Formats: sequence, structure tokens, C-alpha cells
Amino acid sequence: MINRRVIVKIPASTANLGPGFDSLGMALSLFAWIEMEQSHTGMTTFQLHGDGMDGLPTDKSNLVYKVAQLVFKEAGVEVPELHIAMYSEIPLTRGLGSSASAIIGALVAANALIGSPLSDDKLFQIATELEGHPDNVAASLFGGIAVSAWDGAEAQHVRIEPHPSLEALVAIPAFELSTEKARHALPSQISMADAVFNVGRTSLLVAALASGELGLIRHAMKDRLHQPYRAALIPGMTEILERATDFGALGAALSGAGPTLIAFVDAASPDKAALENFLRATLQKEGITAETMWLAPCMNGPEVTTWELPVGSEALSQERMSLLERIKGEVKA
Ligand code: HSE
Repeated sequence: MINRRVIVKIPASTANLGPGFDSLGMALSLFAWIEMEQSHTGMTTFQLHGDGMDGLPTDKSNLVYKVAQLVFKEAGVEVPELHIAMYSEIPLTRGLGSSASAIIGALVAANALIGSPLSDDKLFQIATELEGHPDNVAASLFGGIAVSAWDGAEAQHVRIEPHPSLEALVAIPAFELSTEKARHALPSQISMADAVFNVGRTSLLVAALASGELGLIRHAMKDRLHQPYRAALIPGMTEILERATDFGALGAALSGAGPTLIAFVDAASPDKAALENFLRATLQKEGITAETMWLAPCMNGPEVTTWELPVGSEALSQERMSLLERIKGEVKA
């Protein structure tokens, strides 16, 4: 019996940052929590808290359960019955990396539960394979800004420390957009001119973020690979991407596959309220209600808290404190 309880706090992420399709990601200070322990009842049990959790499976088809089992298999141990609790403030299917956070949370929690036999790089490889692209998972796992590449077999990444003045404004439309649908909108081929356009912008963006030359971001956050094709799915997006810099943004992009839009600003900018109004009003004009949030980049990957439980504490688990009670004080709502 493993007498240990693990809680992992995982950051949300924004992928692509404009031109860096399937390559660039940044961790954001919006979080999900996963609690995991071996079940003392001999049955797998779930406690799912928070908006959007209602429809998620509470049996062994649950993503977190399945991902945890991959870790145990890789490590050669058997922990078939688990107690899993989850709480998330990351909205689902909005382009803020909720599925990547769940995958990373499940991998890190399961690994910590069995004494962390797998390296972070191994977890990154498994997560990339599961997601099908490395951008969100790298950001959630390593924190900060992650630059990564994957050839279908192996992924590499480099972490960049976000400039201390960088802050993000997200506008989260009140409708869902699946990554699958948003990827379906993309062409299978693009022109050499568009490829060259994106290579230049992505390289410039990485160099600007690494060197702290924030003034270059407005030139670098331009894209011809995915955003133009996804624009029809997010009314108001084109105007926001074109004009956000007129309202003080350093640059703006579709967050991941959308529909969330993200603008980066200097945290000390006096234009923050005007930018927020512009984003809301532009979406409103298209009949779209959106929630806006100011989020700092999250500098770290998952935070792991582990409790060694006294042997024979099974009875206590009947009246266990809920995950929400344990993390209250940290959650936004
Ligand atoms: N790079 C991915 C995309 C992120 O844009 O489709 C979404 O998961």
C-alpha cells in the first residue's frame, strides 16, 4: 500500500504566440489542481470540482486515471485503484491548455505518488505524444516560455525566462472551440512565401523574448500559417490582432487553437483599461460575450505537495477533507 497523498498545482498555457505554431508556449498564472492517492477502498473514486467538470467521466475512462496508469506501466509498478480529485479554474476548450494541464498534472502526480522514478524529460515525451504537439505541455511542465520541436518520435525544448514586465490580457469568448475543429480549418499546404514569413517572425519573436527586446514583439507576432484560416471561427479576431497595438499592446494572438485571444502588455502600461475595453467592445460588436482576465506569466511548472500518511489511516479517508478545502485561499473564485 502506498501511504502517500500528492497534490499537484499545474499552470494553464497559451500556445503558438502568433507565428510559432505547435512550437511556442507560455505558462500562465491560472491553475488546475490534481490530488491523487492509492484508493484505500479497493475502488477507484473521483471528486471533480469546478465549472465544466460535470460532463467528465468518473470511471477508469477518465483522462487523469488513464494517464496515471501510463506512468505506472512505464515504471513497472501496479496501482490499479486510485482516489483522484480535481479542481480547475482553466476554462475547457477555450485555447488555454486545459487538456495539456490535465495530462501534465496526471503525469506529475502519478510519478510523485510512486517516488518520482521518471525524469521530467520522460514525462515531456509522454505528454507530447498524448497531445500530438509539444507547445502547451512544455509550457505547463517547465513554466515560463517554452520553445519546442517534435518530429513524431522525440521532442526537445528550451525554456526562456519571461521578461519581468510581461503581462497578458486574455479575452475568453463564451463559446467553446475544439482544437480538432480549429485544426481542421488549416490547409494541408502553404506557399514558400508564407513559410518564409513565419520562419522570420518566429525567429524574431524567440530572439526578442530571450533578449527582452519587447518593442520587437509587435513586428514578430504576425502569422500566416494558422490565424488567417481560423479567423472565420472567431468573429472579431482579425480586427483585434490588427489593432491591439494601437491600444498599447506589445502584440496579440489567437491563444492556441482559440477561441481565446491574448494580448501582451508591459505591466506598467497606462493603457491597460483602454486595451481591455477595446477587446471586449470588438467581440461585443460581433455578438460575442467574453470574460477578460489579466494574467502574469507563470515562471514555474507544477508545484507538488506530498504527504506521507500514517499507516492505518484508511479509516480517516472516510471523512477526508476535500481538495477544495485544502487549496482554498489559493483559488481565484
Ligand atoms: N498548436 C496547437 C494549435 C495548440 O494551434 O492547434 C492547440 O492545442
